[in-house]
Amino acid sequence: MLISGFRVQMDFELTEEQAMVKKMASAFAQKEVKPVADRMDRQGIYPTELVQRLGEMGFMGMFLPQEFGGSGMDLLSYVVAMEEISKAWASLAVVMSVQNSLVCAPILRFGSPAQKKKYLALLGRGQWLGCYALTEPGSGSDAGSIQTRARRVGKDYGLNGNKIFTTNGSRADLAIVYAVTDPAKGKKGISAFLVETNSPGFSVGKLEDKLGLRSSETASLIFEDCRVPRENLLGEEGEGFRIALATLDGGRIGIAAQALGIAQGCLEESVAYAQQRRQFGHAIAEFQAIQWMLADMATEIDAARLLTYRAAWLVEQGKTVTKEAAMAKLFASETVNRVAYKAIQIFGGYGYIKEFAVERFFRDARITTLYEGTSEIQRLVIARRLIDGEEIAHEVDGETF
Ligand code: CAA
Repeated sequence: MLISGFRVQMDFELTEEQAMVKKMASAFAQKEVKPVADRMDRQGIYPTELVQRLGEMGFMGMFLPQEFGGSGMDLLSYVVAMEEISKAWASLAVVMSVQNSLVCAPILRFGSPAQKKKYLALLGRGQWLGCYALTEPGSGSDAGSIQTRARRVGKDYGLNGNKIFTTNGSRADLAIVYAVTDPAKGKKGISAFLVETNSPGFSVGKLEDKLGLRSSETASLIFEDCRVPRENLLGEEGEGFRIALATLDGGRIGIAAQALGIAQGCLEESVAYAQQRRQFGHAIAEFQAIQWMLADMATEIDAARLLTYRAAWLVEQGKTVTKEAAMAKLFASETVNRVAYKAIQIFGGYGYIKEFAVERFFRDARITTLYEGTSEIQRLVIARRLIDGEEIAHEVDGETF
């Protein structure tokens, strides 16, 4: 379209394919997920069948090419699907997010042809579950300080150490594990490994008892001389830390989408409740105090959505999104916490009891400012790119981005 000689390139419409994915995800979330979410979450039951359904629908390897058993969709399709599923149940959404963003994506990007052939189809169809094992008891925000060690043992590596807070860790068939191969090189001495969890020396430790995401399992992993074949090194030795951070750029878009979905859930529940709840002889939606809260919630959610969609769109344009993904994650996760607070305010005492979904939304929202980098780390990432320049080159496997 041409206006006064300028080509208009902005387009806020979803494509036909993205709209179809949204419809499919919404139908699944509303018909199959929402009816069971509250009960299963309260009982802390891992949603085995629903995870299987995600695999059948092609949602466990959404942007993998079809040759690798994926759905060949774009990143925005993944974002809208994440939103819809998170709106119903964030515990299920995080399983999908880890599988797509933190496991399939780095194997597709950095894996050897043999690794892609061996693992992607299994992961993409949801027959195998993956996890991303970076965090350790002494290494959270300072991810470059990990201590898990990988030593050459003949043709293999032997891994020793502990990982914590690993989503899907207790269920995973494949773990992407970050370990130090050369302590003298600091962050450049970290490497990434594809560890099959039936390998000798691998075991699952304690499962965390969490505030929210009660049905997603968060495990510690133990490596005791865990044997990993040399061909399971992901990328080259010493590239692990950059692979971990490049992976998190994509992961943060997924978490922004999760936050958006929870926030949208809060808004929809609040609008419905405000019209039905009567006090002082009126529906509370007639009161300006409530209207202003709803208006602020909707405005902030839209702003978060625009940042998140932009980050996903930039990835599709082949751009580096370190800053934009951090901005989307920072804003969407802080937004959902404000929105969930207001949702409970609108529900009053009813919002504080488990009978209403906003109580679960409030608890689930809290993690989004913590995992895949706290809000403080997102600010650090954004500020570094402002101060050090936009074009900081990241190089992994000879590819600069
Ligand atoms: N992509 C690729 N490479 C990158 C990069 C990126 N986004 N950002 C930095 N790098 C490169 C740098 O260019 C640098 O390369 P050189 O060594 O060649 O110079 C190297 O990585 C090291 O970078 P920094 O010196 O900037 O690293 P740092 O130690 O200062 O740390 C950090 C940077 C941003 C603070 C990082 O440690 C970080 O993101 N911390 C948060 C960790 C995190 O998000 N953990 C969540 C784990 S997953 C999870 O939540 C659990 C789950 O299951 C969902």
